Amino acid sequence: MQKIRIGVFGLGRGSTYFDNITNNDGEIVAICERDDKKLTEALDYLGDITTGYKDFDEFIEHEMDAVFIANCFHEHVPFVLRALEKDLHVLSECTSNATMGEGVQLVRAAKKSKGIYMLAENYPYMLFNQEMKKVYDGGTLGKVLFAEGEYNHPFNFDNTEDHAMLRPYFKHWRNRLPRSYYITHSLAPLMNITGAFPKRVTAMPCFSPFDEYNTLGSPVADRAAIITTLNDDNSVFRVTGCAAFGAHGNSYRICCQNGQIENLRGMGEKVMLRYNSWQIPEGREEINCYDPEWEAVDKELAEKAGHGGGDFFVIKEFFDCIRSGRKPVFDEHFATTMASVAILAHRSILEKGMPYDIPDFRNEEDCKKWENDFTSPFFKKDGSEPDIPCCSKTDYVLDEGKLNNYLQITGEKE
Ligand SMILES: NC(=O)c1ccc[n+]([C@@H]2O[C@H](COP(=O)([O-])OP(=O)(O)OC[C@H]3O[C@@H](n4cnc5c(N)ncnc54)[C@H](O)[C@@H]3O)[C@@H](O)[C@H]2O)c1
Repeated sequence: MQKIRIGVFGLGRGSTYFDNITNNDGEIVAICERDDKKLTEALDYLGDITTGYKDFDEFIEHEMDAVFIANCFHEHVPFVLRALEKDLHVLSECTSNATMGEGVQLVRAAKKSKGIYMLAENYPYMLFNQEMKKVYDGGTLGKVLFAEGEYNHPFNFDNTEDHAMLRPYFKHWRNRLPRSYYITHSLAPLMNITGAFPKRVTAMPCFSPFDEYNTLGSPVADRAAIITTLNDDNSVFRVTGCAAFGAHGNSYRICCQNGQIENLRGMGEKVMLRYNSWQIPEGREEINCYDPEWEAVDKELAEKAGHGGGDFFVIKEFFDCIRSGRKPVFDEHFATTMASVAILAHRSILEKGMPYDIPDFRNEEDCKKWENDFTSPFFKKDGSEPDIPCCSKTDYVLDEGKLNNYLQITGEKE
């Protein structure tokens, strides 16, 4: 099998992929990270085959076939563009683009490049989501009418070690992440299972400030964004971005003409498939509750991989596309559609639920409308202020007590 030579940029999330890459006949020939400790640890782990860089300009000149872009959430596009210009294959972490204008740039660059673009979206590959896709594609449920997706990640305020690691400085992207922006883990599984693409979005926030003495350092006091999309097949999705309500977990429910399928919250991989009593297909019961199984060929590596096996399938699919010349399912169109839902859902929230049309950046008319819109809720690269608030209550500020709690556990780095 053709070995794929890959470079990894950003060694937080990036380093969690090392084994998956080598397990899929990939060779990590270069890594890039500005943090000395992370870079040294990774080089020790990977051995002589890998060259380390601190500077992207040098890293991108290394002889390789593909790059994995895993730097900060809102800063992927400028680096993705550089890689696509060099006709490298690009695997990018979520989100594909944090501004509408960057979405336009990304789709235009991918069109010109000989490289393949793929979003490293892993949640659709979780066991229950693969099972739901299999059942949906089987056709017994009929067409989707409505679906729900939740990615729910509450946190423990006492776990200050985690806060310091995940939000190491005040201007870090996690401290400014509007609730709708981290949307891919709730939305991608629904789009992948059903094939429906959002065309219109509206959203509402769940505003509820955290404890008086919290240690987050974040002015985002929303617990969730509840996002509704109307899709190109007339179905409706209701999804969260990254929520922090109820109990931890991610869940999906696909409601169709003849019945519904969902994974059961808090019940591991369990799937519940139900039909109406008058629409039960041959070989099924009215109520089918079961634990799906991995395909034998994937089982061993999927069980070793992070995110319920999802990380293994991301690399498997990316390398398969490179080797066969096939376009990935999570290509630039899929990825930028989700990013548009995320960005415009936040604008909807800031405008009391105003609906927005979701553009298709394969159409020049839609590109023209958004190509100059770089409005962002994040701090800029030069440290300057964000353009828009990151919280639904635009006058909400982190009080001094909370900020000091946070600074005590992190110290201000960068
Ligand atoms: N799919 C998933 O399940 C999943 C899980 C975690 C993170 N992610 C995504 O992965 C990406 C990274 O997340 P993270 O938690 O590692 O973020 P992070 O902010 O903790 O780490 C980013 C790393 O990139 C490095 N970096 C940033 N810019 C750089 C530059 N110009 N030159 C050199 N190094 C640079 C930083 O030093 C840091 O080590 C994000 O897009 C996030 O959304 C996805």
